[in-house]
Amino acid sequence: MSGEVVPRSRIIGTGSAVPDQVMTNFDLEKIVDTSDEWITTRSGIKERRMVRRGERITDYCVKAARLALEDAQVEPDELDAILLGTISGDYRFPATSIFIQSELKAKKAFALDISATCSGWLYSLFHADALIAAGKVRKALVMGAEFLTPITDYTDRSTCVLFGDAAAAAVVEASDNDRGVLSVHIGSDGDLALLLYCESGGNGRFLTEESIRRGEHYLRMSGNEVYKHAVRTMYRASRTALELAHLDVDDIDWLIPHQANIRIMEATAERLQIPRERVFVNIHKYGNTSSASVPLAIDEARRTGQLKPGQTALPVVFGGGFTWGSAVIRF
Ligand code: ACO
Repeated sequence: MSGEVVPRSRIIGTGSAVPDQVMTNFDLEKIVDTSDEWITTRSGIKERRMVRRGERITDYCVKAARLALEDAQVEPDELDAILLGTISGDYRFPATSIFIQSELKAKKAFALDISATCSGWLYSLFHADALIAAGKVRKALVMGAEFLTPITDYTDRSTCVLFGDAAAAAVVEASDNDRGVLSVHIGSDGDLALLLYCESGGNGRFLTEESIRRGEHYLRMSGNEVYKHAVRTMYRASRTALELAHLDVDDIDWLIPHQANIRIMEATAERLQIPRERVFVNIHKYGNTSSASVPLAIDEARRTGQLKPGQTALPVVFGGGFTWGSAVIRF
C-alpha cells in the first residue's frame, strides 16, 4: 500500500434559481377539479414556480452556477468538470451542460448531462466524488435542473398539482480535511420504468401530430405505486449511506429528503426515527422540482443558516427509472 491519501469531495458553495412566476393551489383550482385542501393534505404543496414558454433552462442553470461559484470564491476557469442532472434540457443534443460551459467560459471543464430523473443531482455528485477520489478532477460544478411544467398535462389533476421548475448548483472541491462527502450511494431498477415516464419525443416513439393529440409527450405517473416504492427505497438508501459512512442516525443533524410529497418525507423520517425538526422541508414553496429538489433544499438550508458549518446532512432521493440516491455530507 502506498499510504497515499484519497481526496474527499467537499461542497464549498451553492446557488439556485427559480422562475418568478408563481402558480398557487388556488390558481390550479381554476384549471382542474382540485382544491387547496386536497393538494395541501395529500402532498404538502402550497405553490410552485413555473417557467414561461420559451425560457431556457440554460439561463437558470447559469444563474445558479454563478451564485454557487461566487459563494465558493471559485472562478469558472478553475473548473475541471460540469455535471448536470436533467431530463429537460433545452436541446435534444448537445447536452445542456455544454451551453453552461460556454456561457460561463469554463474552458478547462468537460461537460456532461446525466439522465436520472429526480435522482440526477445525487447521480452527478456520485460521479464527481468518484472522479475526485481518482485524482482526475479537482473542482467540479454539480448541478440539478428541471423544467417539468412544460411536459405536465394540465388536464390530469393527479400529476399537474405536483411539479415545479428550478435549477440549483454546488461547487465541489477535492479536500483532505474531515468535512465533505462521507459517503454517496446510487441505485436503479429498470423493471419499474413504466410507472413514471414520458413516452414520445424519443427515437422509440417520434413526436407526431397523432402522438401530441393523445398527449404522449406528457409525463405519466402511477402515483400510488411510486409512493409505496419511494418510502421503502428512501429508507433503505438512507441506511446504506449511513452504513457506508460508518455513522448512525443520531450523527445526522439534517435529513434532506427529495421534496416529492410531505407524506413520503414524514414516513421516511419516521422509519429512520429522525424527529420532524431535523427534516428540511421547502416543498410548500416549490413543489417537486425533480433533480433540482435536493440541491435547492441544501442551498436554502445553508443560506438561511439552518444548515451550519460542521453539521452533517443526509440527502436522499427517489425518482423515475426507478432511480435513487443518498449521501452523508459534513458541511
Ligand atoms: N385533486 C383532487 N382529487 C384528486 C387529485 C387532485 N389533484 N388527484 C387525484 N385525486 C383523486 C383521485 O382521482 C382519487 O379519487 P377516487 O378515489 O375517486 O378515484 C383520490 O384523489 C385518491 O387518489 P390517489 O392517487 O390514491 O391519492 P394519493 O393519496 O396517492 O395521492 C399523489 C396522490 C399525491 C400523486 C401521491 O400518490 C404521490 O405523491 N405519489 C408519489 C409521487 C412521487 O414521489 N414522485 C417522485 C418521483 S417524481 C419524478 O421522478 C419526476
